[in-house]
Amino acid sequence: MRIIKGFRDILPYGNKSLETSFVWTSILNKLRDTMALYNFQEIITPVLEYDSTFKTGIGEDTDIVSKEMYEFILSRDSNEEDKNKIFKYCLRPEGTAPIVRSVVENSLNKIKSLNKLYYLGPMFRYERSQKGRYRMFHQVGAELIGSNEILYEVELLSLAKDLIMSLGIKDFIFQINSIGNKKSMENIADAVAAFGKKNKDSIDKKDHEILNKNPLRFLDKAIHKYNLNNIPKTVDYLDNESSKRFTELTNNLDSLGFKYTINNQLVRGIDYYNDLVFEVTSKDLGAQDAILAGGRYDSLMKKFGGTESTSIGFAAGIERLILAMKDKDKDESSIDLFIAYNESELIEKALKIALKLREIGLKVEVDLDRRSFAKQMKLADKSSALKTIILTKENINNSSVTVKNMKTGVEELVDLNNNFDFFIK
Ligand code: HAM
Repeated sequence: MRIIKGFRDILPYGNKSLETSFVWTSILNKLRDTMALYNFQEIITPVLEYDSTFKTGIGEDTDIVSKEMYEFILSRDSNEEDKNKIFKYCLRPEGTAPIVRSVVENSLNKIKSLNKLYYLGPMFRYERSQKGRYRMFHQVGAELIGSNEILYEVELLSLAKDLIMSLGIKDFIFQINSIGNKKSMENIADAVAAFGKKNKDSIDKKDHEILNKNPLRFLDKAIHKYNLNNIPKTVDYLDNESSKRFTELTNNLDSLGFKYTINNQLVRGIDYYNDLVFEVTSKDLGAQDAILAGGRYDSLMKKFGGTESTSIGFAAGIERLILAMKDKDKDESSIDLFIAYNESELIEKALKIALKLREIGLKVEVDLDRRSFAKQMKLADKSSALKTIILTKENINNSSVTVKNMKTGVEELVDLNNNFDFFIK
C-alpha cells in the first residue's frame, strides 16, 4: 500500500528532519495562542463542500477551480427528495469561501456585527507536487468579517506578522498592493489588455487566452514569463477612493514601524479580492516562496446570499511555515520516567506504579513485554527518560525503589510510602 501522491504522513519519529507530530502540534498550539491574543475565535467547517461554494466564491476560471479541485459525484444520494438531483462535492481547496458560506448559513453576522474567525486544517489542490507544494496541505487562516475600517487591515497584517514571528521566522518579506474597487479593477484590466495587444507578438497563444478572458489573471500568472518593459502598475489605475484608502493604510503601517514593500504587480489568483492584497514570501523556500497571502474581499458575502459585508483575511501554509523555520522546535517528546524491573514477577507492581504516576501528571513508560532487565535499561536510554525507577524484589518489600538519574547516573533509594512526593518534586 502506498500513500497518495502529494499527500504526507506526519510521523511521531522516523522523519529525517524535525518535522515530527510533536513539532507539528506545538506549532498549532503557538498559532492558536497568537490568534487568542487578537481575540480571534476558531471556526471548524467540513473538509467536503458542494463545488458551487468554490465556483461561486473563487471564480470559475481561476486555476484552483478550473484545474485543481478534487471533485466527485456521489451516486448514492438516494434520499427521495434528492433523487433527481446530481450533487457535486469537492474537497475544500481553501478556507475563505466555506467560512463565508458558514457565516451566512448560520447567521453569525446577525449574532455579531464583526466576526473575527480563524481556522486550521487540511486543504486539497491537485497541483504538480514539489518542495513546499503538496496536494494535501494545511492552512492556518484568519477572516475578519464585517468592517471596512483601515485600522482593522493594520490589525490583521499585524496578526499575520505575529503568527510568523511566533514560530521564530525572521527572514520574510511583506508585499502589499491595492487592486482598488470595482471601477479601479476595470481600469487595470483595460490597461493590461491594451498592453497585451501592444506586445501580442511576444506572447504565447495560451497566454493570449488568459489575457482575453481575464487580464488581471494574466498580470498574476503570465506576464513575468516575458521580458517586457513598462508593465502596467496597478497604482496608476486606482480611482481616488481606492488610492486614498491605500495611502491611509501605508501611512498607518509607517507610523507603527511595520516593514513592507509595495509590489504593484501583485494581484493574486483568486477572484474575490478588492483593494488590499498582500503576500508574505521567504527566500529560504525556493520556487514556492509564498508562506502567507490574503486581502480584502467585500463582495463575497453578498454572492453567498448574505447582506453586504466588508471583510479581510489571509491564510498561511503550515508546511511552508515549517520550511521557513530555521531552528525548528526541538523534539521534546521525551518522557519523565521509565520503570524497569529486574524480575518478571514484579511487572504488575511496575504497572501499578506507572498508573499512579500518570494520575499525578507524569509521562511514564514501562515495558510490559517482560524483556530482560538489560534490555529494559537500553529502552530507558533510548526513550530519553529523565529518570528510571528500578524495581527489585528486595527493595519493594520495604516499599522503596531505586531511582536513577539518567543524565548523571546517580542512584538514590526512594520511599514509596510518601504518596510519590519525591516524583512530584
Ligand atoms: P492562497 O494564496 O491560495 O490563498 O493560499 C494561501 C497560502 O496557502 C499560500 O501562501 C501557501 O503558503 C499555502 N498553499 C497554497 N497552496 C499550497 C500547496 N499546494 N501546498 C502547500 N501550501 C500551499 C488562499 O487560500 C486564500 N483563502 C487566503 C485568504 C484568506 N484570503 C482571504 N482570506
